[in-house]
Amino acid sequence: MSAPSNPTTFPLQGKVAIVTGASRGIGAGLALELARRGAKVTLVYTSPKSGKLAEEVASKIESLGNGSTSRVVQADLRQLDAPEKIVSATREAFGDKIDILINNAGVLMNRSITETTAEDYAAIFDVNVRAPLLLTKAVVPHLRAPGRIINMSSIGARLGFANLTLYTASKAAIEGVTRSLAQELGAAGHTVNAVAPGPTESEMLDDVPKDIVEAQLKQTAVENRVGTVDDIARIVAWLCGDDAKWVSGQAISASGGFLKL
Ligand SMILES: NC(=O)c1ccc[n+]([C@@H]2O[C@H](COP(=O)([O-])OP(=O)(O)OC[C@H]3O[C@@H](n4cnc5c(N)ncnc54)[C@H](OP(=O)(O)O)[C@@H]3O)[C@@H](O)[C@H]2O)c1
Repeated sequence: MSAPSNPTTFPLQGKVAIVTGASRGIGAGLALELARRGAKVTLVYTSPKSGKLAEEVASKIESLGNGSTSRVVQADLRQLDAPEKIVSATREAFGDKIDILINNAGVLMNRSITETTAEDYAAIFDVNVRAPLLLTKAVVPHLRAPGRIINMSSIGARLGFANLTLYTASKAAIEGVTRSLAQELGAAGHTVNAVAPGPTESEMLDDVPKDIVEAQLKQTAVENRVGTVDDIARIVAWLCGDDAKWVSGQAISASGGFLKL
């Protein structure tokens, strides 16, 4: 029989995490949640106007006073040199090893198929699929077992929504990436999972057609409400911890019972 679990107030103490899209929305909340649990976190953002927001997340982390700390990195995940920049900054700040990678940054486009261009395809897939792949590639040589990689999917990965074809296709792709990487990296003791939120409070939600969101809320078992950042952050943080060590290659529906996987 294995040793009894030893719950601690700071279950991620000593862990080093990278969170992309950590300036606002879900990423900001989950970076803070990882820090609350003791992790040191690299906060990645891209827009100049979000620099202040990322610094605010960093200040909140410092004020936790639990030994967690952060490093803010500006990098555009559409650029091929972004992964190396993020990994180098993380190693410079926290040492050679990385324990957790959260590929959270994502973009959405509300556009009909007849208006969709090859440039639109690149704009969505470069951030939602290529960047997580290439950042994982850059992190793996430094990933300390038991490493945790979590890719942010969406309920859209398994459903169809008019005018959101590029977005939902990119999320279906990242779930495929998740399943294969779980197989590839499992022998080294790492887990790879996806989290698929339903509609969640954030700026991105403002870009989703209102009729789609209203229909989803009617089908959301728990309180017929939109998810909060905290709802999602706790699931991601749980996956990062020891309690989730036997979960890999999964997409977890974080949607209050809306999407049954
Ligand atoms: N909100 C929802 O209802 C919902 C539902 C299902 C899935 N999700 C998924 O959850 C994740 C987070 O969504 P959210 O709602 O929190 O989004 P959000 O509020 O729109 O925030 C997006 C984040 O991604 C970053 N980002 C965008 N493009 C980037 C790039 N090229 N390089 C680096 N960073 C970039 C943004 O940085 P800047 O601030 O610098 O622009 C920002 O931090 C996404 O993957 C999304 O698809 C969201």
